Amino acid sequence: MPHLKVKPFDSNIIATHIATSTVMTFVATAIHTDDILIGISHQDESFLLQLKPDKEGFLLKYDKVTRPLKVNILKEALAIVAQELALEIQSSNITISSTKVVPSSEYLKKIEDFVDIQYPKDTVSVEVGFGSGKHLLYQAQKNPDTLFIGLEIHTPSAQQVLKQIALQNIQNIWVVNYDARLFLEMLPSNLCKEIFVHFPVPWDKKPLRRVISKSFLSESMRVLAVDGRLELRTDSDNYFWYALETFFSVPQTSVEIRKNEALEVTSKYEARWLRQEKDIYDVYVKSKALSTQIKEPIVFDFYGIHYTEGIEETLAKEALVYEGYFVHFERIFRISAKRLLIKCAFGSFDRPEHKYVLLAEESCTYFVSPPVQTKVNLMAHEKLIMQFLPQHIALKDNNV
Ligand SMILES: C[S@@+](CC[C@H](N)C(=O)[O-])C[C@H]1O[C@@H](n2cnc3c(N)ncnc32)[C@H](O)[C@@H]1O
Repeated sequence: MPHLKVKPFDSNIIATHIATSTVMTFVATAIHTDDILIGISHQDESFLLQLKPDKEGFLLKYDKVTRPLKVNILKEALAIVAQELALEIQSSNITISSTKVVPSSEYLKKIEDFVDIQYPKDTVSVEVGFGSGKHLLYQAQKNPDTLFIGLEIHTPSAQQVLKQIALQNIQNIWVVNYDARLFLEMLPSNLCKEIFVHFPVPWDKKPLRRVISKSFLSESMRVLAVDGRLELRTDSDNYFWYALETFFSVPQTSVEIRKNEALEVTSKYEARWLRQEKDIYDVYVKSKALSTQIKEPIVFDFYGIHYTEGIEETLAKEALVYEGYFVHFERIFRISAKRLLIKCAFGSFDRPEHKYVLLAEESCTYFVSPPVQTKVNLMAHEKLIMQFLPQHIALKDNNV
């Protein structure tokens, strides 16, 4: 990932450049460490850069939580910041490529886009963990009247497929660089024709990380239309039996099993298992009922909460653990006397959400975007804002 190593400089100069900078919007300094965050607004994207002291100077790099998908935007921002602050660069890996195909933003969707998205086709299918994208690209070309939503947590794979979409002029794929287990909650009920899960990571030692679970299955059944199909393809005996057990636990479904069925397209993973003459299992689960459970919009409201003096001292230092979820204030950064940027982790234990909260005198918001609209995130959000309430501070002051 792009970064710059720069010679030591007085980091207090950053604040004096904010007003005239073309990309820097604020600077925030950690309350208990030397870390610095720089707010960036560049090419319609807002994100943070981290400035970390190291032995020979500073490391200027991306921030994991707010990182934009397009690496070139990051590289450009790093170069502009270095130039505007007149930093002396010791080493860098940010050659900006103009020849590379820049992923087309039209087909790259953010999770928050799905709050009120319009689906351009009547038929929608989803592929979870598309990897090299061979199956996704093939399906999209074969079925131009279907919109394919491809989900992939591995950013380079998402970028590669975006390039292929541009090169092959495909117009019916949306790529979402996000965890599929959380994503399905964003879709309306009865929308999809198929959900493909081909060769998911078996996670034999960490089963909680598996894509297939009871909650993934019931969400899949909710978003599938009647007779819509969830298609699992796996080479793992263990995963096959685990999935079968999970699938039989949900009512109003029909389950079908196939062994060594040839598909029209062979993915990279599949080709490897075929060379090794491994058995390949397909399990098809069909939704047999119209889902009435319409997705309620989830709103992460801060109810007019704003910065109150001394609040940074009252926030819980340790993780707050509740039944099935948690809230942790990981680090507090100060932007100005009455403006904080608080790095938080919260939500479910196996799929925590990482976000910044911008707590200012006039408002409180998530920076740069709200959490994914899941019920567990909403429960965590409500506990999180309790920590910001003046009553909470008063109770602490009185040692209640
Ligand atoms: C073993 S590869 C299979 C790739 C592809 N389906 C194929 O058949 O070649 C599994 C893929 O799933 C992705 N993945 C794993 N967990 C995921 C999740 N929770 N959400 C989205 N993608 C995920 C991984 O990054 C990886 O690319």
